Amino acid sequence: MKTALVCGAAGFIGSHLVDFLLQKNYHVIGLDNFVTGRKENLSHLAENKNFRLIEWDITNAPNISEKIDEIYNLASPASPVDFTKRPVFILQTAAQGQTHMLELAKNTNARILFASTSEVYGDPLQHPQVESYWGNVNPIGIRGCYDEAKRFGEAITMAYHRLHKVNTCIARIFNTYGSRMRPEDGRVIPNFFSQAVSKQSLSIYGDGKQTRSLCFVSDLVAGLYALMQSTSHEPTNLGNPREMTILELADTINKITGNTAPHKFLPLPPDDPKQRCPSIDRAKTTLGWEPKVGLEEGLKHTLEYFNQ
Ligand SMILES: NC(=O)c1ccc[n+]([C@@H]2O[C@H](COP(=O)([O-])OP(=O)(O)OC[C@H]3O[C@@H](n4cnc5c(N)ncnc54)[C@H](O)[C@@H]3O)[C@@H](O)[C@H]2O)c1
Repeated sequence: MKTALVCGAAGFIGSHLVDFLLQKNYHVIGLDNFVTGRKENLSHLAENKNFRLIEWDITNAPNISEKIDEIYNLASPASPVDFTKRPVFILQTAAQGQTHMLELAKNTNARILFASTSEVYGDPLQHPQVESYWGNVNPIGIRGCYDEAKRFGEAITMAYHRLHKVNTCIARIFNTYGSRMRPEDGRVIPNFFSQAVSKQSLSIYGDGKQTRSLCFVSDLVAGLYALMQSTSHEPTNLGNPREMTILELADTINKITGNTAPHKFLPLPPDDPKQRCPSIDRAKTTLGWEPKVGLEEGLKHTLEYFNQ
């Protein structure tokens, strides 16, 4: 039986990853400080003997003595709300947190996955974004704390790989959605669903013509696992390449929720990316991975959660 350590286990993606690994017969240790995660995301596992949740802030070195085979470091606040609320903590979590996890990987010979983000491409000038693109990031802008935190996380991961031969991999995650997202999270899907189920106008920032591509969480988790099982050390984009405008997304959510309130247009926040779409050629070739869940299908699953 393999042991996996999941940092950020009580978060949206982390909790789905824990479920996935337990189904694959892993022994799973979850670490979380609950800054944005919630214990109830894992409450269904309270009796599961193969799972242990430890309250821990990864800016402190973890105290783990058992043999670890795989470390998934997903711990980081990730929503735009947090960029203004806790910018220093975001930077510290990537810098100190990822360093602690790399040390643990070095000492235990574990393979480690760093959850990076499409935000490393900033407001991209190249489209779709391929991994070889270095990005267009404003380091001192409002999103700089997150973008640069993740860029540092990638840099230190590669440094440990090159210097200490740590078995690392980097997932550049694009917008992901599904159940267990916090309604007040500030990201587009929870925003739209919270408004749509209470029959309010959906808030569109700017003219709504900016694009996003959205990956359903089960697809993303399968991609993280495939990357961990691979021998790749290069950053790998994981996301759904189906691109849509924010307006198109808003109309689809209104359609499936039966919401008829007209959209509400608000000023675009600074540094909001105009286009986001992954090239997933690398993931297809090296992992044999691509998303399977269509937009309407994924949104309908997500609606069940926001309707609860
Ligand atoms: N959801 C997306 O669309 C998306 C896109 C790109 C990248 N990511 C990355 O994926 C990861 C998970 O994102 P998510 O959407 O599930 O966010 P989330 O906020 O739901 O989950 C993050 C989890 O990490 C925990 N955490 C944060 N800082 C910590 C620390 N210092 N010590 C211990 N635990 C800590 C939080 O409490 C939370 O449970 C993040 O690293 C994020 O940057 C997510």
